[in-house]
Amino acid sequence: MSQSLIHSTLNEGVLTLTISRPEALNALNAEVISQLSDAIESAQSAPDVRIIVLTGSGEKAFVAGADIKEFADFNAKQGKELAQRGQDQLFNRVERSTKPVIAAVNGFALGGGLELAMACHVRIASDNARMGLPEVSLGVIPGYGGTQRLPQLVGKGKAMEMILTGGMINAEDGLACGLVNAVVPTEELLATADAMARKMMKNSPRALQTAIQAVLAGYEEGINGFDAEISCFGASFETEDFKEGTSAFIEKRKPQFSGK
Ligand code: CAA
Repeated sequence: MSQSLIHSTLNEGVLTLTISRPEALNALNAEVISQLSDAIESAQSAPDVRIIVLTGSGEKAFVAGADIKEFADFNAKQGKELAQRGQDQLFNRVERSTKPVIAAVNGFALGGGLELAMACHVRIASDNARMGLPEVSLGVIPGYGGTQRLPQLVGKGKAMEMILTGGMINAEDGLACGLVNAVVPTEELLATADAMARKMMKNSPRALQTAIQAVLAGYEEGINGFDAEISCFGASFETEDFKEGTSAFIEKRKPQFSGK
């Protein structure tokens, strides 16, 4: 049996997935990608999981990138397959998770590591976080969605600067440019992610799922985001959560959402 590289803990609806390969600063090899993908997939249908928090083991790194040693002798075909497989198996799956995924960025988030954080719906960074896409220093370019998701978050100019210099930015600069949503002291990172998760958990799970879908629609080729929003909005009116949310408001009580 293969070693477990993803540690998971479930605490009252919040599933924390910790990438645990500290000897390689949690670098994403094929096994980490496969195990993390499986963990995200099974969380989708687990009724006791409401929100997912993704972090790295130790205080030094969230994830230091794709595993350079694994692809160092790849040819063009293998390189293309690596990016395709990674995007299909993990990065797109994280972004399309029906349950919100919060990245708790605890140190280096480089290359594939920053790309993984960017595929999450929200990013909270510890004050020692260092983030960048250094792929060009290795003679490649970002392959796990970085050239697309970084400009979406920080704008084209800043993304070009980060990708072309390959340099790292610190947590405060990440906050200033919109790469991360919040910066907190390292020792408060997981508690802050948990607090945000609990805030999300007060809302209708069905509406959270639909909201994620509507936001992502605006970034899908050939889809009009406003039209997608109208459809998603309309569909919400047929859900049990909508009946419960509006009834609870009118009856001045807390809603008990079923997620249906
Ligand atoms: N792949 C494989 N191993 C890695 C790794 C990576 N991305 N990052 C770190 N490691 C390994 C190191 O090789 C080292 O292992 P050994 O002890 O066996 O030599 C161990 O982790 C500790 O790393 P360092 O000794 O380098 O630690 P440091 O504190 O001196 O430096 C660092 C930390 C600046 C993060 C440095 O490790 C580093 O630059 N790592 C690579 C970052 C990078 O280039 N990431 C992009 C990868 S390419 C990519 O992600 C492609 C894509 O988009 C699909």
